[in-house]
Parts: sequence; structure tokens; C-alpha cells
Amino acid sequence: MSDVVLSVRDLRIAFDGVAAVRGLSFDVYEREVLAVVGESGAGKSLTARALLGMVPRGATTSGQIRLRGSDDLAALRGRRIALVPQDALSALSPVHAVGDQLAAAVRSVQRVSRRQARALAVAALDRVGIPDAGRRARAYPHEFSGGMRQRAVIAMAMVNEPDVVVADEPTTALDTERQEQVLRVLAEQREAVGAALVLVTHDMDAVRAHADRALVLYAGRLSELGPAPDVLERPRAPYTASLLASLPRYARGRRLLALPGSPPAPGALPAGCAFAARCPLAAGRCHTEEPEPADVDGRLVACHRTDDVPHPATDLFDFQEKQPA
Ligand SMILES: Nc1ncnc2c1ncn2[C@@H]1O[C@H](COP(=O)(O)OP(=O)(O)OP(=O)(O)O)[C@@H](O)[C@H]1O
Ligand code: SF4
Ligand SMILES: [Mg+2]
Repeated sequence: MSDVVLSVRDLRIAFDGVAAVRGLSFDVYEREVLAVVGESGAGKSLTARALLGMVPRGATTSGQIRLRGSDDLAALRGRRIALVPQDALSALSPVHAVGDQLAAAVRSVQRVSRRQARALAVAALDRVGIPDAGRRARAYPHEFSGGMRQRAVIAMAMVNEPDVVVADEPTTALDTERQEQVLRVLAEQREAVGAALVLVTHDMDAVRAHADRALVLYAGRLSELGPAPDVLERPRAPYTASLLASLPRYARGRRLLALPGSPPAPGALPAGCAFAARCPLAAGRCHTEEPEPADVDGRLVACHRTDDVPHPATDLFDFQEKQPA
């Protein structure tokens, strides 16, 4: 595998002493697509924001995040690491032409002339498929269609050719067709620019289509991290298995069983494994000791009982059947 571009070690993010992200460690490799998945509240957005040095006000952060060896993330933002925001409309200023906004983004981090910045902005708009980019660069966001605005914010994230792009649910507000388009443009651009992509998503089909690896989070901790096809087809963490078994594609035409209950709130964690109350395999030390991530079958899995998790995807349903009613 290629070199690590971004490393996260023991990341903790707390509000009023209550940790929502609890000791998370992972690497992002050059040019890879790392999908970050998990239910609402798992800590995906907090982690994504931490990568950009943008944790919310009131949060206490500890641990280490290094991008090519530097931990001054705010200084690297826009240049070496960039965000593709969820909401394209609010990400663009209504009072400046789109091309001017991209050119300003270039000039904020690169020592280039106005003319050069302009040329880079137009080239970035052209790359994302804005027709007649030289002319359209002079238009304002409200003169762009929704799809074009979405492309423009992707162009904005890519214009300085960052090493890492972070996209937190970049398509949730869009219809299915538009979602696929945006993900495709994002994937193409990442490839063209040579950036790694950290893609926060609820959409397992997007993980399957675009991700090299998948990081599954549960209650602020790593549940499973490994090659996306392996994680999707042969999950080793009971949480991943349960999550997948509630999706039609993985249940393979059989009756779907929703994952029972909901994750514990950050302030109400049980003593042992945070998934224990919902896990069909919970027993013994699951209730007293939180599992640490360990190497299992070519990936990292945090579970005391990985040997008991059924391997083939075809067993997922039977596994889910064991769930308490
Ligand atoms: N500004 C905040 N103040 C206090 N607590 C917060 C704040 N932001 C997040 N949290 C806590 O951190 C937890 C994780 O939040 P985060 O936004 O990272 O979840 P998420 O995985 O992105 O969920 P979703 O899928 O709903 O976007 C939340 O459940 C909440 O308890
Ligand atoms: S540690 Fe125990 S409760 Fe937690 S996921 Fe593994 S088997 Fe389930
Ligand atoms: Mg979120």
C-alpha cells in the first residue's frame, strides 16, 4: 500500500467532559478513498471536522492528527486538505462571481498572480465539466443550476490540488440520480488531482462503488476498519454485520431485520462494549471490558468475540435472526 498522508492517533473529542469521539486511531493513505460509516451520532462529522482543524466551539480535543508530518491543520486547510461541504449553496458566497471565489481560494494559499489564479480557477471549473468555463466563471452562484453549484464546490475543494479531501455526506440533500453524478465527479476529480478522499456517508452502495477502505464507527470508537469489499462482504465486527443485514442488498432477498434499539448517548455508555445491549453475541466480558481494536483477518476489529462472527455474507441473516426480539 502507498504512503500514509494523514495519521490520526488516539483522537478524543469531548463536550463538558463527556467524550463523543473516544480514542480513535487510523491512517489515510495517499490517493485512497476511505469511507467513514456508522449510525447517526457515531462521531463521523466530529472526526471529519477534526481532520480540518475545525472542531465545534466548546469541544475539547486531544490526541494527534498529522498531515504529512505537520499538526498545524488549520494552516494546511485549503492547501493540503480541503472540505467538500454538504450544502453547496451556502458554501458559495452569493455576492461574488463563482470564478472570483475560486481565484480567491487559490490566492489565499498560493503565491500566484491574479491572472494565474484566474486561469487555475477556470481550469478547475472546466475539469468538473462546467461548460464554457471561461465565461461561466463570471456568473454568480444563483445563475448556476443546482448540479453546477455542486460541481463548483467540488472544483473549489480541488483547485489547490490538496493531498486530502474530506466530504461529509456530500450528497444527502440530493435526489438519487444527482447523488451518483456528484459522487462520480468527486471520484474523477480526486483521481485527477491525486488526492485521498475521506468520504463520510450513510450510503453503503456509495462505499461499494467508490471506497478502497471502510472505517466503521460506533459510539465514538472504531468498530471495524479494512478493505471496503472485505468489510462489506465478510464483516468481522458484529456491529458491521448487523448494520449490513438491515440492508436489502446484503440480506439477499430475505426478510430484513432492522438493527434493534439505538446507540447509547455519549453520556450514557455502559461499562463494557458500547454495542453490547444490541449485540446477539454479547456475553461475559462484553459487559465489563471495552474491546480494543486488534488485527483480525487483514483488518482492525474491536470485538471480544470476532471468532464467532459468521463469515460469509449469506450468514448475515441467520446472524441477525439471533437478535433478541
Ligand atoms: N456541538 C456539539 N455540542 C455537544 N455535543 C455534540 C456537538 N456536536 C456533536 N456532539 C455529540 O457528538 C456526537 C457525535 O456527533 P457527530 O456529529 O460527529 O455524529 P455523526 O456520526 O456525524 O452523526 P450523523 O450521521 O447524524 O451526521 C453526537 O451524538 C453528540 O452527542
Ligand atoms: S465485544 Fe461483545 S458485545 Fe461488543 S460487539 Fe463484540 S461480541 Fe458484541
Ligand atoms: Mg454527521
